[in-house]
Amino acid sequence: MKFDILTILPEMLRGPLDESILKRAQEKQLVEICVRNLRDWTHDKHRTTDDRPFGGGPGMVMKPEPIFEAVEELKRSSPGAWVVMLTPQGRRFDQQAARGLATREHVIMICGHYEGVDERVREALVDEEISIGDYVLTNGALAAMVVVDATARLVPGVLGHADSAKDESFSDGWLEYPQYTRPAEYRSMAVPEVLLSGDHAVIAAWRQEQSRQRTRRQRPDLMKDDEK
Ligand code: ADE
Repeated sequence: MKFDILTILPEMLRGPLDESILKRAQEKQLVEICVRNLRDWTHDKHRTTDDRPFGGGPGMVMKPEPIFEAVEELKRSSPGAWVVMLTPQGRRFDQQAARGLATREHVIMICGHYEGVDERVREALVDEEISIGDYVLTNGALAAMVVVDATARLVPGVLGHADSAKDESFSDGWLEYPQYTRPAEYRSMAVPEVLLSGDHAVIAAWRQEQSRQRTRRQRPDLMKDDEK
């Protein structure tokens, strides 16, 4: 799977992409992540990507020309690429959206900045608008990072253990059960006896019940009425 991230802050993204699971996924060529500097598609001396809003008002708006030219160039060799824009106005990103995005072969991400992006970008270029939550970030680059991370780990082969994306929060609609590792007792806090029993059926039932209780307590909105 390939991601192209269009941003005016490429340096902000390079560090996180070069660590741990995302780094290995790229080395194994399961995922290709290209961070592109939007200023490379400007033509003036100052490499301008923003301008004042028509009609007045505070802040600056991202100009359409560099974004159109960048997306058109990237799509020339990949006409089926899916174009996503990160903005607080988008549909809220969740695990289901990540699963949907992970089925795409090539995703081009446009990171908004300043007060907004010229509306013609949204109208003519964008297939899907994504928000990572109901709060406003200084720019869309961090949001793109979140979306790339949550999506790339679902690409087959990226996670080491084949099952590790199946048995986790949201995979079946509930939060994950509590996990413990050694030592069995730490500062007088003991690991629940059931986990030391070796009885896999009993452990599975305990975990399911813990998931249910935790979800009911912390995220009742995730539960259907008959599950509560
Ligand atoms: N840009 C600024 N805030 C954002 C958010 N919450 N989600 C996606 N992009 C954003």
